[in-house]
Amino acid sequence: MKKNTNAFVRHWTPAASEGRLGHSLFRSGPTIIDWSAQHYDSFAMERQRAARELIDAVPLTSARSVTDLGCGSGLSTTLLTERWPDAKITGIDQSADMLTAATRRVPDAHFVQGNIAKFVAAEPQDLIVANASLHWLPNHEALLPKLMQQVSLGGCLAVQMPNNLDEPSHRLMQAVAELPDYASHLQAFKSQRSALLTAEEYYDLLIPYCESLRLWETHYQHLLSGAEEIVAWFASTGLKPFLDMLPAEKRSAFQTHYRHRVSQAYAPRVDGKVMLRLPRVFILATRKHHRG
Ligand SMILES: C[S@@+](CC[C@H](N)C(=O)[O-])C[C@H]1O[C@@H](n2cnc3c(N)ncnc32)[C@H](O)[C@@H]1O
Repeated sequence: MKKNTNAFVRHWTPAASEGRLGHSLFRSGPTIIDWSAQHYDSFAMERQRAARELIDAVPLTSARSVTDLGCGSGLSTTLLTERWPDAKITGIDQSADMLTAATRRVPDAHFVQGNIAKFVAAEPQDLIVANASLHWLPNHEALLPKLMQQVSLGGCLAVQMPNNLDEPSHRLMQAVAELPDYASHLQAFKSQRSALLTAEEYYDLLIPYCESLRLWETHYQHLLSGAEEIVAWFASTGLKPFLDMLPAEKRSAFQTHYRHRVSQAYAPRVDGKVMLRLPRVFILATRKHHRG
């Protein structure tokens, strides 16, 4: 079974403002590189599609307590407040920049800075959502059952994760990282995000807790204007750890190399646009109504 290993960890960046972001929890662990909310939000509508489909599929008509793990800039949190306006909604993220944006976007929710790996709910949550965040964490064999145990009886765990390591977008990042100019700086990244578990493995991990368990994969075809936009799409996600680890003077050349390869791999369609295929895995687990 393949493991996720998160090699590009860094130590905590200070919270932008603990007062604004709420109290910081489980701060003792390492954290990944801080994300840029502004950049991430430049594709907000497209990125929100999967979150919307995940949340639409949740079968709960009411929820008192909802946690958004890896809430980012609040794109997923805002959908949660629309669907369950009366719930106490808590967003958790380790990026201060993302949390500042989330606080602005969803003033009614409560935000906490922390590492998902160390998340323990103060009380069982009717719904735990993790949209496009868990693929950054290692050891899903332990993590997923642990999260399920934080869900109240009859509640749901709803997860969506990109499954794109084998897509040209990601294979090309790795290929550029192995060029002599960059390899010495990027050794640590070689295994930073490994393949997800298989659907069967997720099923076996979660079914002992579940009343019902749905797993599916959707291949999104995001229409972008060209290679430049593909690079921009990943600059705030998959590409960012590579760029952050490079010395400043090598970043632009790395992006140019990557853009060149991307433009060869993603041929323009008849209207000049390119299609960025992005497979995403969905897990929707409803916890048993009774223990045992
Ligand atoms: C792709 S964004 C998704 C944000 C949001 N859920 C959405 O749907 O737009 C992933 C987020 O997960 C956060 N993240 C990644 N690993 C994390 C960890 N170990 N603990 C807390 N947050 C984490 C990142 O900081 C980032 O904001």
